[in-house]
Amino acid sequence: MGEFVWSAKYSIGNAEIDAEHQRLIELANHVASLAANNEQLARIKQYIVALYDYVKTHFQHEEEYMLALGYPQYEEHKKLHEGIIAEMNAIMKHSGNLDVLVYKFKRLMNAWVLEHILLEDSRIAPRKKQEEPADSPASEAN
Ligand SMILES: [Fe+2]
Repeated sequence: MGEFVWSAKYSIGNAEIDAEHQRLIELANHVASLAANNEQLARIKQYIVALYDYVKTHFQHEEEYMLALGYPQYEEHKKLHEGIIAEMNAIMKHSGNLDVLVYKFKRLMNAWVLEHILLEDSRIAPRKKQEEPADSPASEAN
C-alpha cells in the first residue's frame, strides 16, 4: 500500500475529477517510494516535476468544472490552487538536499493537497446536486 491512500470520502461526485485526484495520489506515492528506495535526487525531482505539471493541469480542469457549475466560491478556490502551486514552486527551488525535499513534499501532499481535496473540492459537489431538481416533474403534455 502506498503512502497516500485514496478513499471514497475524497469523491466529489465527478468521475473525471475523481480520476485525476486518484492519479495525483498515485504520482505522489511513486515519488514517496522512490525516496524510500534512496533513488537519486535528480530522478526524484524528475517525478516531482511531472506531478507538479499534473497538478497544474488538474487545477485547470477543476476550475473549468467550477465555472461550468457556476460554483459561487470559484475565486476563493482558485486562490487556494495558486497557493498550492506557489508552495510547490518553493519546494522545487530549495531542493538541494534530498531529505529536505522529500520531507517538504510529503508534508505538502499530506497537510495540503489531501486536505484540499477533502475540505475544499468536496464542497463543489453539493452545489451540483442542488441544481438538479429533487423531484423531476412527470412529463407534461405541451
Ligand atoms: Fe481544488
